[in-house]
Amino acid sequence: MPEANTEVPKALEAMVDTVLRYRPKPTSAAQKKRKRKQKKAITIDRSRAPRVAEFFAGIGLVRRALEGEGFRIVFANDIEPTKAVLYQANFDASDLVVGDVCSVRGRDVPDIDVATASFPCTDLSLAGNRAGLAGKQSGMFWEFARVLDEMGKRRPTVVMLENVPGFATSRGGQDMRDALAKLAELGYQCDVIPVDARWFVPQSRPRMFIVGSRRHDLVASPLLRREPPVCAETLSAYVDRLSSEDPRWWPADRLGRFLRSLSPIQAERVAKLRCVGKLEWSTAYRRTRNGCAVWEVRPDSVSGCLRTARGGSSKQAVMETGHGDVRVRWMSAREYARLQGAPDFHIDDVSENAAIFGFGDAVCVPAVAWVARSYLLPLLQEKFPTTHRHVTTRSCPVGMSLMT
Ligand SMILES: C[S@@+](CC[C@H](N)C(=O)[O-])C[C@H]1O[C@@H](n2cnc3c(N)ncnc32)[C@H](O)[C@@H]1O
Repeated sequence: MPEANTEVPKALEAMVDTVLRYRPKPTSAAQKKRKRKQKKAITIDRSRAPRVAEFFAGIGLVRRALEGEGFRIVFANDIEPTKAVLYQANFDASDLVVGDVCSVRGRDVPDIDVATASFPCTDLSLAGNRAGLAGKQSGMFWEFARVLDEMGKRRPTVVMLENVPGFATSRGGQDMRDALAKLAELGYQCDVIPVDARWFVPQSRPRMFIVGSRRHDLVASPLLRREPPVCAETLSAYVDRLSSEDPRWWPADRLGRFLRSLSPIQAERVAKLRCVGKLEWSTAYRRTRNGCAVWEVRPDSVSGCLRTARGGSSKQAVMETGHGDVRVRWMSAREYARLQGAPDFHIDDVSENAAIFGFGDAVCVPAVAWVARSYLLPLLQEKFPTTHRHVTTRSCPVGMSLMT
């Protein structure tokens, strides 16, 4: 039984069907006694784990979260071949169908307990064209609903949708009403749950989750009204530590343009950070104001919402300040991975930009894991009473125990 965090992932890899219960090394006698009781492996019968179909799978961070909670993905679909490379590098992805969801038929989907749909936000986000569910991209929701419809009586007990908060306001709320009406027609009673990645990692990423259940009596379970967790961590635990000579820091002329583009308030903020006697990190985004590119630095040590570089958004930059200096560089793909709760995701098979693109579109792993623990598993408890509910494997930030 490993007693250090570093040993646990290795042990988990070696014991595919066994999840080790892990606690930090006990110090008091009472803790030692508790640990003796817990010192056993809990075996999950994976053939009895809840079966999931993951639509709009992207690079697979929904899968990463759900597998960590004891679910088993048996079908996945996404249209993007580059994201599929990352998906295949990280999972045994024989169940991934790379292609248009419009070509997926209900009969193609095996028997499942849960269907997830992290459908495109392009037409729902405030930065987009706001075409809503009538848009070409976000309208893929209707294809997901069609597949569920075609599954007939084999429809899953639970569905989980994820999208941006703009979904709730799109066309004055009509799009969400239409989506909920469609899901109700298919037999699902739904709750809409706002979840921010900020509760788990230093990234502001508010999202809406819709969980629908055919077990209507269980949807309003008090388990759902638990206090959300609070993440006290800042960027310092998530950024790459580069030497001041590292060529990834922007050269003087580019840094000069960055600094000159700051508003007076932002410039003052940076000047103050620069004078601090220790290194601190902030993130910055390039925006267009009155036709000019300007940089905006966040006032807290938290990353802005990671996005893909499309529709006017840019990649995120990391600023290091302190001891009289200021340095700026692009955020790395590995930093994106950490901020999405997938620190050890395998990203070497694609370019840095392709990885950043994948992570910018993806879900935050601990946010999905939290929804799964506090919502999906209680809804499925009757059918899967032995499913282990509180295990996270690779998604925990440095220093957290594997059991939460
Ligand atoms: C918000 S992202 C989902 C990201 C995913 N949850 C993750 O963690 O990586 C939406 C996904 O929908 C996919 N998509 C867009 N249109 C599609 C279509 N017609 N058929 C299948 N997938 C589509 C995109 O490639 C993108 O990966």
